[in-house]
Amino acid sequence: MSEFKFYASTVGRKFITGLAGILLVGFLVVHLGGNLTMLVGGGLFNNYTHHLESLGVLLYIVEIILLGIFVVHIVTALLMQLEKRRARPKGYAVNASKGGPSRKTLASRSMIVTGLVLLVFLPVHIWMFKFNQGRPSPSVMHDGKEIRDLYSIVVAAFQHPAIAWGYAGVMFLLGFHLRHGFWSALQSMGALNRRLLPVVYALGLVVAILLAGGFILLPLWIHYLTPATGM
Ligand code: HEM
Repeated sequence: MSEFKFYASTVGRKFITGLAGILLVGFLVVHLGGNLTMLVGGGLFNNYTHHLESLGVLLYIVEIILLGIFVVHIVTALLMQLEKRRARPKGYAVNASKGGPSRKTLASRSMIVTGLVLLVFLPVHIWMFKFNQGRPSPSVMHDGKEIRDLYSIVVAAFQHPAIAWGYAGVMFLLGFHLRHGFWSALQSMGALNRRLLPVVYALGLVVAILLAGGFILLPLWIHYLTPATGM
């Protein structure tokens, strides 16, 4: 089968959405790990992001690949959703789970909604933190060098209750997305047999709780327990 035919087939699209989804879970694990250094203090976090920035061209390449994975995941998932709607424009009268491999839950039925919320969140998030809303980033001295003070940007944002709680809310929806997305991605990739399915289904819950829990903890911890840096 040519690559185009593979992408055009439902099986191919499911595989590609799933593969991109699993790679994005990998990104989330690394992103959360890096962000959790903020709980220790600004020095460690700024040093971590400074090291990332010193990768130079390599970082740009990683960012372009990451953007590509996001685009593929989103476009393919939206295409599949449109096809599903076209195939049954009025929807099913009964939405209950058949149990077993169908696993219809609130998380599975709300994938498109939670996905769209994350789609709106992402550019706002990157504009806020990576680009400091278009303003020049503050800097701080670290080991005799002047480096970007990304920590102060994040701490200043989360001093606002609406931003801290807004983030926590979106991260809760991220947990829903992951709860269904994780196991479903592996299943779409044909990686699960009858014995593995229940194990990975349960693992999906653990992944969702750990990742969403970590991302929820950050804004609330900073809002309630971290003093403003005076930015
Ligand atoms: C409490 C939650 C989060 C916090 C505090 C946070 C923090 C940050 C910060 C500080 C940056 C800027 C990094 C830099 O400029 O070096 C960033 C970038 C980014 N974040 Fe988050 N993030 C959170 C959740 C998320 C989630 C859930 C996603 C994905 C669904 C995400 C995706 C991204 C992406 C794609 C970038 C750009 C990475 C790059 O271009 O290097 N973030 N985040």
